[in-house]
Amino acid sequence: MKPATDYKIVKTGDGTFTARSAQFDECYHSTKDGALNESLKKHVEPAFSLIDPSKKELVILDICFGLGYNTLATLHYVQSRNISKKIHIVSPEFDEALVRSLHAFPYPEEFEKYLPIIGKISECGYYEEENIEIEVIFGDARDFLETTTFVFDIVYQDAFSPKKNPSLWTKEYFSNLASHLAPDAIITTYSSATPVRMGMVESGLYVYTPPSTKVRSGTIASPSSKLPLPSIDMALKKVRNPSAKPLYDDDLK
Ligand SMILES: C[S@@+](CC[C@H](N)C(=O)[O-])C[C@H]1O[C@@H](n2cnc3c(N)ncnc32)[C@H](O)[C@@H]1O
Repeated sequence: MKPATDYKIVKTGDGTFTARSAQFDECYHSTKDGALNESLKKHVEPAFSLIDPSKKELVILDICFGLGYNTLATLHYVQSRNISKKIHIVSPEFDEALVRSLHAFPYPEEFEKYLPIIGKISECGYYEEENIEIEVIFGDARDFLETTTFVFDIVYQDAFSPKKNPSLWTKEYFSNLASHLAPDAIITTYSSATPVRMGMVESGLYVYTPPSTKVRSGTIASPSSKLPLPSIDMALKKVRNPSAKPLYDDDLK
């Protein structure tokens, strides 16, 4: 699948704007939950509520950059709560032309103070200040994961849907991702699909029901079996539905 620069701006349920990708025929966010609301409630707030508070630096993998909401919502969350950790966000994105166009995107007022940051990112894919470093890696996220030496504390797993963007939801993808995680890393995603959860579990991760929020539920995953959340028993799911299986790279051929 090629990158998807062609997009149409769409208003979402919380009044903030997302886009609809012509290539993927899908919106970058849930139009029902709202773009900003989804970033905060499905990704940023659950991740920060579960991560070890004593960590002084968080290395965050944002899969993938898209319109940059998850990255900007992280800055908004951290700065509005005076969190003084170093935040290093690394975000693969193969649609470079999309990122280059973001200086003109109609972001919500919560992001107004970050417009110079998005301006810099759309210019050169990079931003750094005292406690913040943001790197957009232009290219395929799978290739990035093959070669990176980063160890991630948080992963926002926010590709398009498994149906439209399957290569970022396979068992092989999650196995590679799992090899780059801190032992107590937190993965957030909007997907609650059984093949996604099975791919995570077959990659050695534990899966949990997210803390309850006003948005559609998804999944929290971690190499740790000790998160304070209801764990999801995928072995029992398999007993009840013996044909259930992860999505494999071979299925995409
Ligand atoms: C649902 S959007 C991400 C939304 C984004 N997290 C945000 O908050 O605005 C998915 C993004 O993944 C990108 N993408 C899809 N497959 C990719 C791949 N294999 N490598 C890199 N980027 C990919 C698409 O171009 C798109 O920008």
